[in-house]
This record gives sequence, C-alpha cells and structure tokens, in this order.
Amino acid sequence: MEWPGVLLVKFLPATASDYDEVMSISGGIHDGVDYLPFRYHEWLAEPQRRMFVARSEEKVVAFASFLLVDGGVTAVLQGLRVAPWMRGRGIAREIQKFCFNTLRTNHPGVTKIRETVEENVPPSLLSKSRLLHSKAVVSVFLPNDHLEKTTQLLSCRLLSVYQGRPPVPQSLSKVLRLLDDPRTAEDLFPKGVLIQDLLPLTTHKCNIELLARWGIAWVYSKPSDLLTNPIEGANSSSISNLSEHSTLSCTSSGFLSLSTPPFPVPLEKGVYRLNIDLFGSNPSFAQAHILHHVTEAVRVLPPGGSIVCFVFAEETLRKPVMHYLHGMAPFPAYRELLMLERTLEA
Ligand SMILES: CC(C)(COP(=O)(O)OP(=O)(O)OC[C@H]1O[C@@H](n2cnc3c(N)ncnc32)[C@H](O)[C@@H]1OP(=O)(O)O)[C@@H](O)C(=O)NCCC(=O)NCCS
Repeated sequence: MEWPGVLLVKFLPATASDYDEVMSISGGIHDGVDYLPFRYHEWLAEPQRRMFVARSEEKVVAFASFLLVDGGVTAVLQGLRVAPWMRGRGIAREIQKFCFNTLRTNHPGVTKIRETVEENVPPSLLSKSRLLHSKAVVSVFLPNDHLEKTTQLLSCRLLSVYQGRPPVPQSLSKVLRLLDDPRTAEDLFPKGVLIQDLLPLTTHKCNIELLARWGIAWVYSKPSDLLTNPIEGANSSSISNLSEHSTLSCTSSGFLSLSTPPFPVPLEKGVYRLNIDLFGSNPSFAQAHILHHVTEAVRVLPPGGSIVCFVFAEETLRKPVMHYLHGMAPFPAYRELLMLERTLEA
C-alpha cells in the first residue's frame, strides 16, 4: 500500500530482516530503556500480533504493531515510532491509519483500540480517547555493585513492618478462580484493568491465558498471610513512615503481582529492565511483593548486570513504594502510565 503525498511511503509487514533498520530509528527512545530491541523477534513469533514498517526511499521510517486481546474484540497498539528525521510530518498518523484499515479488513471483530502512554501524551490523542485507568510509576536504578546491599536493605525494611508469609507463585487455575469472585476482581483490578509489562489488558479469561502461554507467573498473598506487627517505636523516619502506610488499607482480597525476567535495554551494556506490576492496595503486601521480584531478578541476572526497576501500582501506593525504595537512585522516567481506549470506527 502507498500513501500519496510529498513523500512516497509504503506500509509493509515487518520481518526479521528489518530488525537492524527498526533499531536504527529507535535511538534514545523511552529514556534508553526501550523494550522493542529485546522483544522484536518474540513479537514476530506471536500469532496474535501483527507488526508493520513504513518505508520511504527504501529506508524504514516508522514501525507500529498491534496485539489482538480480549478474545479478539480489542487491538492493543504497541511500539509506535518514527525515524527522528521524519517526525512531525504525519507518518505516525498514517501508519496507525494503515493498522486500523488492516484491522477492519482482516479482523472485523475488533471494535476497540487500546494503548498505554506516558503522562505527557499529545492533547490530540487524549481528545479522541477514553482514559480507562492510570498507574503510578516509581523507577530506580540498582547498580550491580549495590545489588546485594539493596536486597538486604529491602529485607530489613520489610521486616520492620511485615511479619507475614512471603508471596507465593500461583497456578493459572488459581488466578482464574480468584478472578471468578467479583469482589476480589474489583479490589485487585479496579475497573477490570490489568497492565502487564506496559501491555493494557482487561481481566478477560483469554488475556490471563495469554499471559500463562508466555510463561508469566503470578505471585499472590492471601489476606491471612498478613500478620502485621510494625516494630513499636521505630526511630528512623523512613521506617516509621512505612509503618504508618502499612496500616492504611484493608486486605480483604490479598495482593497479586507480576514481573517478567529482567531484559537487556539499550541504555548501556549490562543494564537490564525489570517491570513489576502490583495489583492490590495494601502497602505491606506491596513491599513484600517488590522484595520478591527484585530478589528473583537478582537471582537470574547475568553476572555484572545492573537493573532499572519500574514499579507500576495504584496511585495510593505511590508514597509507600517511594518510602520503601528510599535512598536508591531514582531513574528519571515518567511518573504515570495512562491506559487509553478509543472506538475503531467501521
Ligand atoms: C510519537 C511519534 C511516534 C510521533 O510521530 P510523528 O510522525 O512525528 O507524528 P505525526 O506527525 O503523525 O503527528 C502526531 C500524530 O501521532 C499521534 N501520536 C503521537 N504520540 C502517540 C502515541 N503515543 N500513541 C498513538 N498516537 C500518537 C498523535 O495523536 C498525532 O495523530 P493525530 O494528528 O491523528 O491526532 C514520534 O515522535 C516518535 O517516534 N517518538 C519516539 C517514540 C515514542 O515516543 N513513541 C510513542 C509511544 S510508544
């Protein structure tokens, strides 16, 4: 297909051999912690995903993809990018139009388009979308030579507010059973929204099964796991803040979380990104789950690796999570992840 204009631009399915060119237009994207370099080939093999490049004068000038979710009624847009020298000329708009036309022709059951964006999203995009939900984002850099000290510190901080049982990995069937209870589902996933590794999903059974197919493991704390016993009279201000936050919310539904194994990012050789997605509102559970995922990431990290750790949580957990990670180098990224949805017009 061609897009007539000053430039002749062709839209084509992306292939494995486009990898280097797609990477060559991706320099510096997402603060150096772009997921696409690592995910590109995995995405190509995913039957529910389609990936496209735009070519002008034989060069790749843009990339976009969509993933079919919610049992085939929603397409999630991901990975959109335009070559720096071609930005501001309508290419992002056109490659998205191409995606939408492909959806209309090949996937007529799709009626909704969904995406996650950082808080500084263009007003034109906001005006045509519904804001479904937003998550607080807290990000820190954990350099290799501090990893041992960091996990020790996080363990000590947790012990001061939480004497409960550690979170436990859950089977797919147990997670589905939890979601069968509407109260638990609403408590853990307000508005039925589930963001995993930046992917905006609903709690639709097909999506949970898709995550299981990708080998993503849930971790759960049941309400009775919380035997809160904050140390009386803790004198450090950060510890007392943690204690204060730990008593803030109810725990009737427990707490769920997800993370993917840390993956390499372009920022620097040996830097890996860890995304931790928290579901629930109890600050003590949040801390226990962060510790679980960081410890697990450190365990599987290649020797010499450092971690950029992103925690995605409900806004009410922002402060407690920040207190818990206090003293670790903040990684300058975005503060909020927005989940947007729009209707795919026929
Ligand atoms: C954001 C980016 C793709 C815009 O490309 P561009 O070719 O300069 O954009 P255009 O000239 O087509 O104008 C902006 C259009 O893109 C849309 N757009 C911008 N950011 C978008 C986003 N994150 N998701 C969807 N659409 C977006 C705008 O809504 C606008 O379309 P409209 O006029 O129909 O409303 C480009 O600046 C880029 O590659 N940035 C770095 C990567 C990035 O931030 N990607 C987005 C998040 S994955």
